[in-house]
Amino acid sequence: MPVKLTIYVGTMTGTAELVAQEIEDWLTGEGGEAEIVLMDDLDHASFSEEGPYLICTSTYGQGDVPDNAQSLFDALSDQRPDLAHIRYGLIGLGDSTYQQTFCYGGKRFDALLEELGARRVGTSFYHDASSGEMPEDEALEWFKAWLPSLLDERREAA
Ligand SMILES: Cc1cc2nc3c(=O)[nH]c(=O)nc-3n(C[C@H](O)[C@H](O)[C@H](O)COP(=O)(O)O)c2cc1C
Repeated sequence: MPVKLTIYVGTMTGTAELVAQEIEDWLTGEGGEAEIVLMDDLDHASFSEEGPYLICTSTYGQGDVPDNAQSLFDALSDQRPDLAHIRYGLIGLGDSTYQQTFCYGGKRFDALLEELGARRVGTSFYHDASSGEMPEDEALEWFKAWLPSLLDERREAA
């Protein structure tokens, strides 16, 4: 499968990283490639490659991005790079007991990337920790259904 995906992970306790690893394992088994990068050291220039990117992030505080995603989020907000060349998918992790801010970490990234001109492929996946569903299982099912949309987009762009 001709896909080389970069997965940017925002996490506090490792769930989002586990989700990314599950996707990487499956994609590698299908002949694709994925590189998992924790968001810690990323900055406004981290979207200079064409991608595609998958943003996989949880939510903390009062609807904030996790600590390891904050400097990337701030750098993008302040520097406002033009991301018109970027295609991305989005996985947000949260808990619906936080009714007012459910999955806001992912939703904030989604809104910011769109503001900067990047285009999201397909619908996002939001995992609810209160649902009883395993995030890595649900996210992988979503990913398998999402991937054809990414491949279609690339065919149209070619
Ligand atoms: C202190 C704390 C605050 C949280 N705040 C929110 C929130 O505002 N909205 C939300 O949807 N989930 C919130 N969550 C739930 C986490 O985002 C969720 O458990 C997620 O799966 C954790 O993923 P991680 O291990 O990758 O960080 C919070 C969890 C904790 C422990």
